[in-house]
Order: sequence, then structure tokens, then C-alpha cells
Amino acid sequence: MNVLVTGGAGYIGAHTVVELLQADHQVTVLDNLCNSSPIALERIARITGQRAHFIEGDVRDTALLTQVLQERQVNAVIHFAGLKAVGESVQKPIAYYDNNVTGSISLLKAMTAAGVRQLVFSSSATVYGPLAPVPYREDMPLGQASNPYGSSKIMVEQILADLCHADAGWSVAALRYFNPIGAHESGLIGEDPQGIPNNLLPFVTQVAVGRRPELAIFGGDYDTPDGTCIRDYLHVVDLARGHLSALQKLGQATAGTGLGLKAWNLGTGQGTSVLDIVRTFETVTSRPVPYRIAPRRAGDLAAFWADAALAASELGWQATRTLEDMLRDAWRWQSKNPQGYQPEAS
Ligand code: NAD
Ligand code: WQD
Repeated sequence: MNVLVTGGAGYIGAHTVVELLQADHQVTVLDNLCNSSPIALERIARITGQRAHFIEGDVRDTALLTQVLQERQVNAVIHFAGLKAVGESVQKPIAYYDNNVTGSISLLKAMTAAGVRQLVFSSSATVYGPLAPVPYREDMPLGQASNPYGSSKIMVEQILADLCHADAGWSVAALRYFNPIGAHESGLIGEDPQGIPNNLLPFVTQVAVGRRPELAIFGGDYDTPDGTCIRDYLHVVDLARGHLSALQKLGQATAGTGLGLKAWNLGTGQGTSVLDIVRTFETVTSRPVPYRIAPRRAGDLAAFWADAALAASELGWQATRTLEDMLRDAWRWQSKNPQGYQPEAS
């Protein structure tokens, strides 16, 4: 299959490109590199022995996308490109709506023009909103997000629903990711945030590698067994493989009759606390992670995890890697690449 991967140089995108190439798909990556490095593409080539065709460009450039879809004879698109920092989205809402919503509309226009109607969209558990009961199930209604990033994902899911309602030819998977962590087992690709990490795992690994003195655990007084927040962490390689399962499912649509919009949770179905993460990380890596309990972070929910049954029954997908695997692989990436994709200062 000829697959266009927008945002394919980023964290989840790069891991997905590896899996696609290893499954013998022809891959075109379109990325503006605003939050990624071209070195990731070199590393993908080292892992797989194959190259994705790379185009440096922006998803808001509809003419470019249309041309790429036609020239590369694309059959399906996986759309990762977008901005993802929750706190930054509160400061820069227009940038978030522009990249995430306008960018998605631009892609949908280009796909319509080129006659490509199979799409896998990177959605998020955040679409359930703060009031949904756990575990989250796909048949729950979309919630009310508490930040522009979350709103942008809800808006795009709504746009996709309307599009599929208007035109039965589309097959669209909205994959609602829980908390992806870890890295490819080669240690060649991984998460490489710019500046101070917002997310837990990059912060933990940067403390362990000596780039930061200690971890601040945001809140120790939640109504959870150890007082820290609970999330559903899944290995990024399991997550990447979920995209191949979704593509396979979309490919079952017969000509003219698409599957419409289908939402699937990609999580393990298991909750893990922040303290569990720190302790398990210390056990599997033998590295200390100094921490202190800090005030709660605005907007954090105490606990949520996936009901992962639908992806298992409909996609035949389930996460197979353990928390130990995730943390060991995250550490291998960080310890082999202390400065991420940047070469170490001499
Ligand atoms: P990432 O920032 O590592 O990757 C996103 C990629 O998109 C980057 O390479 C960036 O350069 C590119 N990009 C951004 N805006 C672009 C634009 N306008 N045109 C072209 N390229 C653009 O993020 P990620 O963690 O790999 O996330 C991928 C997708 O998954 C995002 O849509 C994100 O919202 C979603 N998601 C991520 C998580 C998570 O925890 N990482 C959870 C749920 C959903
Ligand atoms: C996990 C836990 C923090 C950093 C975010 C987005 C969500 C999705 C995934 C895209 C929380 C705690 C964190 C730190 C800490 N992204 N923590 N100290 O908030 O569950 O989800 O990323 O869709 O939309 O909101 O992930 O990794 O930021 O936090 O104690 O320095 O770790 O409070 O309990 P989160 P996270």
C-alpha cells in the first residue's frame, strides 16, 4: 500500500513509519519539522534498511498535499501532524486551532480532490472530557475539553463524523491514544521534546540521565491508592502497530462503500500511578530518580484508563508490552541519546 504519513518525523509517527516499512508498505512522510528532526528519518532507515520518501512541508498547504497524494499514488493517509502541548495550547490557542483543525481540513480537502478516502487520525483520550466515568469506552459521547488542544481533537472528530455522514465513501479511524511512552527497542528513535518536558516519562528519563536534578510529582493527595494520578501508559511500538491494524480494517471497505467514522481506544486497559512509574523505572534501570511531591498541575484528572476491548475484538489489536518493557526501552533511548537527536556538545 502507498501510505502518506503526515508528522512522520515525530515521536509516534517515526515509530509507525518503521512498522509500515517493515510490513512492506511504500511510505511518504510529510512533515514541517516544527517539532522533530530529520535525523529521525536517518535512524528509521538504519533500523529498517529502507527509506521513506520525505517531503518537508506543511499540512496547511492544500495544493502541496493534493500534488503529493496524486504523484505518490497514495491509497491511505495516517495524520499525525499537529501541535500537542496542552499548556502551550492555552497560551497560543490560534496556533493550535490553525495547525490541528485548519491543518486537518486542508488534508481532507486535498484527499477529496485526489480521491483518497482512507484516513487514520491521531485522536486522544482527552476527547472524553473531564466528566466521563472510567474506564473510557468508545460509545461514550465526546466531552467538553478544558483546553484548546483537547478542543481541537474534539472538533476534528466532529468534522470527520460530518464528512463521513455526507459521503459514504470514506473510511476513517479515529484512534484515541492513552499515554504512549517508551521507544523502539533499538534505542535509535524515541521521544525528544524541545525544552523542559511537559510529559512524565521524558522528565523521568532526563532526571535519570542527569539533565535535571529531580522530578516534581504533581500532587500526592489525589483520591487514588498512593495519592498520585493514574494513567493508562502504553508502549509506543504497540501504539504504532495499532495504526497498521486500523489500516487493514479500513482496507476491508468495498469500493464506494466506506466504513464511515470508527473510533477505537488504543490503551492497555490498565492504570498505573506516577509513583508506580518512578519505582518501576528505578527497579528496571537501577538508576535513582530523585523526586518531590509538588502542588497539583491545573487541569490534571485523578485517574483514567481505557476500556481496550473494542480494538481487541474489531481490530485484533492489543498492547503486548509490559510496563517494564516500556521503561527499559525509554531508558535505552535516553541513555544512548542523552541530548535526544542533537549531537552531544563536545
Ligand atoms: P510530535 O510533536 O512528536 O509529532 C508531530 C509531528 O507533526 C512533528 O514531527 C511535527 O514537526 C509535525 N507537524 C506539526 N505541525 C505540522 C504541520 N502543520 N505540518 C506538517 N507537520 C507538522 O507528536 P507525537 O507525540 O508524535 O503526536 C502525534 C499525534 O498524536 C499528534 O496529533 C498528537 O496530538 C497525537 N497524540 C499524541 C499523544 C502523546 O501523548 N504523544 C497522545 C494522544 C494524541
Ligand atoms: C502523566 C502524569 C501528571 C509530568 C497528556 C495530555 C493528553 C495526551 C497525553 C495528547 C500526570 C504527572 C507529569 C511531571 C508529573 N496527549 N506528571 N510530573 O497529562 O496524562 O496527558 O499527554 O493527546 O492529552 O494531557 O500526560 O505525561 O503530562 O502526565 O507528576 O513532570 O504524570 O500530573 O498525572 P497526561 P503527562
